[in-house]
Amino acid sequence: MPVPFSNTQARDMASLLHPFTNLTLLRETGPTVIERGQGVFVYGADGRDYLEAMSGLWCTALGWGENELAETAAEQMRKLSFGHIFGGKSHEPGIALAEKLKEIAPFPVGKVFFANSGSEANDSQIKFMWYAANARGQGKRKKIIARNRAYHGVTLASASLTGLDAFHKSYDLPFDFTVRAECPHYYRGGRDGETEEQYSQRLAQELEAQILREGPDTIAAMFVEAVMGAGGAMVPPKGYFEAISAVLDKYGIKLVDDEVICGFGRTGNAFGCQTMNYQPDSMTVAKALSSAYVPISAVMLSPELVEIIEEEATRIGGLWHAFTYSAHPVAAAVALKTLEIYERRDTFGHVRRIAPVFLQRLRALADHPLVGEANGVGLIGAIEMVADKKTKKNFEPSKLVGAMCGRFCEQEGIIVRPLLGDRIALCPPLVISEAEVGELFDRFERGLNKTLEWVRAG
Ligand SMILES: Cc1ncc(COP(=O)(O)O)c(C=O)c1O
Repeated sequence: MPVPFSNTQARDMASLLHPFTNLTLLRETGPTVIERGQGVFVYGADGRDYLEAMSGLWCTALGWGENELAETAAEQMRKLSFGHIFGGKSHEPGIALAEKLKEIAPFPVGKVFFANSGSEANDSQIKFMWYAANARGQGKRKKIIARNRAYHGVTLASASLTGLDAFHKSYDLPFDFTVRAECPHYYRGGRDGETEEQYSQRLAQELEAQILREGPDTIAAMFVEAVMGAGGAMVPPKGYFEAISAVLDKYGIKLVDDEVICGFGRTGNAFGCQTMNYQPDSMTVAKALSSAYVPISAVMLSPELVEIIEEEATRIGGLWHAFTYSAHPVAAAVALKTLEIYERRDTFGHVRRIAPVFLQRLRALADHPLVGEANGVGLIGAIEMVADKKTKKNFEPSKLVGAMCGRFCEQEGIIVRPLLGDRIALCPPLVISEAEVGELFDRFERGLNKTLEWVRAG
């Protein structure tokens, strides 16, 4: 018997346009209304607790209920609730945050530009790449390489780079500046007998061939995520970034590092590029920059890019690109406090200590009858559910096995994220304790077992 919707659920369904949601399932189940959170748990309007194994949307690194951040926001609102950086204005929180990001960046950073979301920051990156190419007299360099299954956001330009069909269908996207490269996923893409390193070399050779076909002097940049998040939470094969970086360097193609998920400790180091061993020319950060307590994102540019952008801006009378809320003082103050907390509490060291426990339980799921691949790095990872473990055959997408698994997991008190290809991502708050990791996998396994029963029942 279907349970009748609560009043809140009915109001939701009459008024909220739900993104990233299977609407057929939603009409059946109604929304899960969350009322409050504490630590790694959130609490539903139905009185139930849920272990939030996705940090919300890969973002709440410090978990819920962090009082210091709430106090910082309130204090800054009282002092200077709004300030901007247009027309030469400035304010201390914006300056201090830019300085801090320059200090902790894993590559030489000239200056920092602020936006509000990952998508806005990535759109800004694309514009800066074009702006710099024009300024250098390389006006043909307009194409941007992004990979299959990449996720770089949803605004028009960043959605074009996103390599997932669902984000293009019915939107007249992608724009034609996009060049699509192969997704580095050894489980699916590696050939029989090929090592991870050999697979990486092959991908680099394919990338070079593609660059030569397109014309190297038509390509401005390549966007990457250290670990592809929304596309499947896939760990790249060994040697991948070393191999593709060499190709990009050879043709003067800039490497834009989208650290919206991996930035600030997620992979065990401050930045994903340190874990995966590559050197970007510019970087996008968001989400954990403020532990998602307030919206803020940033673009960190190399000194060389800043120099050329400022030269061009001087020549044409200004840098005509920014948002009303670029470097919003409340967001900047909260982000600064977040970075201070990470340092004071050694949050990234905690990730390195807890990750082996998380990864051991995650990888053990490879023995589950439903699971083809189970892998991760730091505190991010995924399982992929398959119809046949031997042949790696996927379930029919119309069966909605991933979505159903997400639903069974919720029944077991854990929030996970079903992704394309029946992959289920896990990305808990960085502050999760060892006991909570145990609780996470106990609940997840119960959700998986229920999914298996449901699959077997046809
Ligand atoms: C790697 C990556 N880039 C960009 C974005 C877009 O960020 P936003 O949703 O804040 O626009 C996301 C969002 O999940 C992301 O994971």
